[in-house]
This record gives sequence, structure tokens and C-alpha cells, in this order.
Amino acid sequence: MSKEFETKILCIGAGYVGGPTMAVIAEKCPNIRVCVVDINKTRIDAWNSDNLPIYEPGLDEVVKIARGRNLFFSTEIDKEITVADIIFVSVNTPTKEYGIGAGKASDLQYWEKTARAIAAASNANKIIVEKSTLPVRTAEAMERVLNSNEKGLHFEVLSNPEFLAEGTAIDDLHNPDRVLIGSMETESGIAARDKLVGVYANWVKREKIITSNVWSAELSKLVANAFLAQRISSINAVSQLCEKTFADVQEISKAIGADTRIGAKFLNSSVGFGGSCFKKDVLNLVYIAESNGLSEVAEYWEWVVKMNEHQQNRFVKNIIRALFNTIAGKKIAMFGFAFKKDTGDTRETPALHVAQQLAQEQAKITISDPKAIDNAKIDLAGINGISYEIDPYKAAQDAHAIAILTEWDLYKTLDYAKIYKSMVKPAMIFDGRNILDHQKLYKIGFNVYRIGKTPLLHSETALI
Ligand code: NAD
Ligand code: UGA
Repeated sequence: MSKEFETKILCIGAGYVGGPTMAVIAEKCPNIRVCVVDINKTRIDAWNSDNLPIYEPGLDEVVKIARGRNLFFSTEIDKEITVADIIFVSVNTPTKEYGIGAGKASDLQYWEKTARAIAAASNANKIIVEKSTLPVRTAEAMERVLNSNEKGLHFEVLSNPEFLAEGTAIDDLHNPDRVLIGSMETESGIAARDKLVGVYANWVKREKIITSNVWSAELSKLVANAFLAQRISSINAVSQLCEKTFADVQEISKAIGADTRIGAKFLNSSVGFGGSCFKKDVLNLVYIAESNGLSEVAEYWEWVVKMNEHQQNRFVKNIIRALFNTIAGKKIAMFGFAFKKDTGDTRETPALHVAQQLAQEQAKITISDPKAIDNAKIDLAGINGISYEIDPYKAAQDAHAIAILTEWDLYKTLDYAKIYKSMVKPAMIFDGRNILDHQKLYKIGFNVYRIGKTPLLHSETALI
């Protein structure tokens, strides 16, 4: 292994966070050797190929700059642990599905396995960085597991949660609103923190690097996701009121978002939030509150998730009602399956819940998505009545309805007059993202159902 690198960073976990985050560190810090390891060989092979395992705008370019120079992907976990100075842990921390806390608590088995692997393979002191999202006070457990080694080694644990969003990950990493680094308030904790500050300072302005105690850093990550998810559930709750009162949810978002105290972001009413983290992290916060005897706090946050589920169910019920209360045998085209645009990720996507519920009603569903069809096939394996078609025009042919589930830009510019002609009449559109020109669609002949707005219906053909 080359000796010219001033620091050697290892990241355990080559997923949506570990891969892009380390690629950007390597791009911005040519003097640091960065290696990303994973137990999943297929994933590592893909990181070493021209066909990266995740789709993320700008990622290919960053990987091309650094891979082979100071960025490496490997399955040799123990060997890489031995040589690393700083080890990021970016393994998955899903919701626990068994035993105590099932359905809410964080499943820490992958995280603990890495802590034990680090302790076993190390023969020098190291800095360990929690990059995964973890329950508050995990660093304490991590330190105990690591420092119970019998080699006299000292491991300093930092919390450096990641705030990137998928689809904009590279931009978020290049220009973060902030980088948060939590440490123990001891001499060695502060020295470790300063070393990590030095890494980010290669491209992030010092005033954007926030330092805190380790517990605040851990909890800030869960709270940030809870606040973001809460805004979406709040505006979605308002969308339901709008549909009953002729108010328009987008006009309300604009009006309230202009207040700088509220701010304009994360006020897009939708079919509901998806993604691997919002639900998991809010429920984890709920569990932590419950574990601390704070039932009112737990209940408060739990409603963020309940409102999201309600919004998804409501979307399906509206489709069934509008299609004359039966969808058995009717073709419905789903435009979009990813949980948001510009990603192929389908974890917790609202589209999955919608597809499952429509399939239960025996609809014939055709799913179209520019990047997520492979994942959709895995998610929906074994469910009858589902087909896949990348071309949205073909997907909509002979359909009774189109449901927009992902806000891909391409859906805004389709020739809907052509699509309308190919569909069964009365043709319906359910815009679960409020991205289309609804008046134009109505004029073409569609019955248009929107989120948080009165539907546009040709009354002779519609059920409200
Ligand atoms: P992911 O599932 O895409 O990747 C995790 C990787 O860790 C997998 O490739 C898995 O094989 C690997 N892994 C698991 N156990 C391992 C072990 N013992 N040794 C080596 N590798 C192991 O997950 P992700 O989306 O990258 O999320 C990782 C963490 O980051 C989670 O805690 C998540 O909450 C958090 N996070 C995710 C995002 C996001 O946008 N996806 C954003 C911020 C934070
Ligand atoms: C989210 C956070 O934004 C990141 O800061 C965080 O790091 C990450 O979770 C994580 O911890 O995993 P992400 O889930 O990738 O990022 O994407 P978001 O842009 O937050 O969107 C989440 C969901 O909310 C999507 O389904 C999106 O369509 C939906 N959404 C978002 C709305 O319905 N309305 C909005 O106004 C914004």
C-alpha cells in the first residue's frame, strides 16, 4: 500500500451514503487515501465498473476523477481496517422487525458487527466516525464494544451524521448547508474532532462546520429528519382540508412559505413522503421518547407517520371512487415508481403502497419509470396483474387512468393529447405530485384529480 498519503480513511458500507460521500471526500482531498468496503461483493464490483450500483446525478463524474487515484472499493474488510486511521461506519440501520421495539426501534445488528470487526482487526488507535443514522447514545455502546479490546488500543468515537438527499447527493456534498461533528468533550475527543474538521475544511467553509457534543450530533440527525417529514405531513393534512373547501394547497404553500420564519422548502403536498429514512427515523425518535417514558412526545411524532399513511391510502381510495367504485380488470398506468425524481431508489416509495392496494382490487397495473423499473420488479415480485413499460406512451395505451407517483421532469413534457386519444374514456389523471398543467389536461378531455385542489371534472363523466 502506498505511503505517500497523509491520512487513510476507510468507510464500511458502500451504499447510497458511503459511496457518494467517500467519492466526494476523495475528489476534494487528493492527499487522503479513501477506501470503501462492503460485505456485498456484487455492490463492490459495480462500484469498480462503469455501471455504478446507484443512480445519482453527477456521481459518475466524481468517481471517474478519483477512482484508482485515491479512491478504492474493496471487499477486504479486515485488511483495510488494519491500515486505516479514520473509519467511517455507514452500514444500514433499518427499523427492527423482531423482538423488543419491533416496528420502531433501530436494528443495530449491522452496526455492532462492524464495531466488533474493527476491534478484532485493529492493531493501532483509530478514530471511528458514526456516519449511519443512529439512536442517541449509540456512541456510548460503540465505545464500550471497541474499547473492551484486550490489546490496549483506544478508539475515539465521533458522530458525523449525513444530511444529503438522494437525487441531489453530489450537490449536497459539494455545498452542504452544514457539516455536523459531535465528539466527547475530552482532550482526545476534541483532537479527533479537529482532525475530522480538517478533512471537511478542504472544501467546506469553516463556519459551516458545526461542532457539538456527541449526543447532540446523534439526536440532531433524527430531529432534522423528523422536522422535514413533519412539514410534509402538515401540508398534506392541509391538502385534505383544501379539497373540502375549494382552497388550493399550492397557493397556501406559496403564501405561508413567503414568511421567512416558515420558509418555502418542503411544503409540496404530495401522495406522501417515501424514502428509506423519514419513516424509520421518525419511528426511531418515537421509540426513544417512549423508552424515556415520554408518551406525549412519542405520540406527537408518531402522527407524522400516521398522517403520511393516511395520505397514501386516501390517494388509492380516490382512484377507486373516481373509477366508479370498481377497478377490477381496468388498466391503470403508474407514471413513476421511485420515491422521488432523479433516483432509482424505491425504498418506502408511496408508489409501492399504491401499487399493492390497486393490485388487491384486481386492477391491471402498468408501471413506467426511467430509472426504477428494476427495483420495482424486485419490490412487486409475486404480485399478479403488474406489467412494466419504460415508454410512458405505451404504458398509458388502453388505460382507464394515469397516476403520477414520481415528479420526474419528463412527465411534464409528454404529449397528453396523444396519450388521451389512446386511452379508454372517460380518461382520468391522478396527479399525486401536482406537477402537470391541470387546466391543459382538462381541456384535452381528461378528468383531473389533484392533491389539495378541487378536481377538474367533465361532470357528465365523473364521480367526485
Ligand atoms: P444502504 O443499505 O444503501 O448501504 C449500507 C451498506 O452497508 C450495504 O451495502 C451493506 O451491504 C453494507 N453492510 C452492512 N453490514 C455490513 C458489514 N458488517 N460490513 C460491511 N458492510 C456492511 O444504506 P444507506 O442508504 O447508504 O444508509 C446508510 C446509513 O446512512 C443509514 O443509517 C441511513 O439511515 C443513513 N442515511 C441515509 C441517507 C440516504 O439518503 N440513503 C441519507 C442520510 C443518512
Ligand atoms: C431526506 C432528507 O431530506 C435528507 O436531509 C436526509 O439526509 C435523508 O432523508 C436521510 O436521512 O436519508 P431523501 O429521503 O433522500 O432525504 O429525499 P427528500 O428530498 O427529503 O424527500 C423525501 C420524500 O419526501 C420524497 O418522497 C419526496 O418526494 C417527499 N417530499 C419532499 C414531499 O412529498 N414534499 C416535499 O415538499 C418534499
